Amino acid sequence: GVPAAATNAGLDPMGTTAARIVGTNVAKLADFDDTVKIWVHEELVDGRKLTDIINTEHVNVRYLPGHKLPDNVVAVPDAIEAVRDATHIIVVLPHQYIQHLLDTVHGSILPNASAISLIKGIGISDQGMTTMTQLIHRTLAIPVSSLSGANIANEIAEEKYCETTIGCQDPDEAIVWRSLFNTPYFQVNCVADVIGVEFCGALKNVVAVGAGFIDGLHLGNNTKAAIIRIGFLEMRRLAMHIAGGGIQESTFMESCGLADVITTCYGGRNRRLAQEFVQTGKSMPQLEKELLDGQKLQGYLTAGEVHSYIDSCGVTDHFPLFTNIYQICYENKPPHTIFAGLNVDFSRD
Ligand code: 13P
Repeated sequence: GVPAAATNAGLDPMGTTAARIVGTNVAKLADFDDTVKIWVHEELVDGRKLTDIINTEHVNVRYLPGHKLPDNVVAVPDAIEAVRDATHIIVVLPHQYIQHLLDTVHGSILPNASAISLIKGIGISDQGMTTMTQLIHRTLAIPVSSLSGANIANEIAEEKYCETTIGCQDPDEAIVWRSLFNTPYFQVNCVADVIGVEFCGALKNVVAVGAGFIDGLHLGNNTKAAIIRIGFLEMRRLAMHIAGGGIQESTFMESCGLADVITTCYGGRNRRLAQEFVQTGKSMPQLEKELLDGQKLQGYLTAGEVHSYIDSCGVTDHFPLFTNIYQICYENKPPHTIFAGLNVDFSRD
């Protein structure tokens, strides 16, 4: 059989949710080894190691309480041990930690391994904007696919029906990744557009910050719908600006695009943090610490990364919503300035 591994820094409930799905699926798949190793950033919970709790009680009490994991999901505190024998590596962690993880496991990966990134973030490097699959591929030199969708982790763990999108260039690999993730309540659609899927997942977090500002200002559904519409169009415009013909426009209508913007702008943690930012005047990192109990968010970081990119290209006036959200997050502009200059013509995009 072929082993599979999930890597997860803790810090985000999606890693455990993914391991729960993949663990259940590999137990039924003849081509895969039964064990799914999940890398858990070790911490003590009531004096006990989190990995010990997961391996005896089969619940990640810290990041996904109340949801049993299958017995074949084994938590390990060492990322190298998690990936060493794995042919299929699932990368899930807040994007600010990715480079450190890659530097750690680099050199310990099977040469025939492939990876899939569930990370909803982007990176800035001296070569410009980098997606997580590009970063992983560059460091580990293995094929990398992407998975992203309207996927609030706790709702998936409750097995409420939803969809997701896998971006995979190789049709045979796409079938394998789909077999690892698809369930009756987690419906996978595959597209041959790895970075389109990633751009959607990352950029929608900036829109969610805008949606949270609207909620914090006690404005209504119509206002939030306007922010979602303009945000969606700026997402598409920016992805096209960066990747041009390398992205399929139809990807934006998949679960990773339109559906993820909607769910995150209504139910996501980035939305919640932005609402509190307006209502309390506290900083995003402070609120993250106070409200999210160790979880880490992407939205306000991505707003900063997006801004540094569009600013360096001299195109901020093409992205007024992203620019306004950045200035509210980082330059003390009052939240109602989110509406400045939003009457943009997207008809020629
Ligand atoms: P948050 O990180 O804002 O909770 O968004 C979750 C998400 O990406 C849903 O698909």
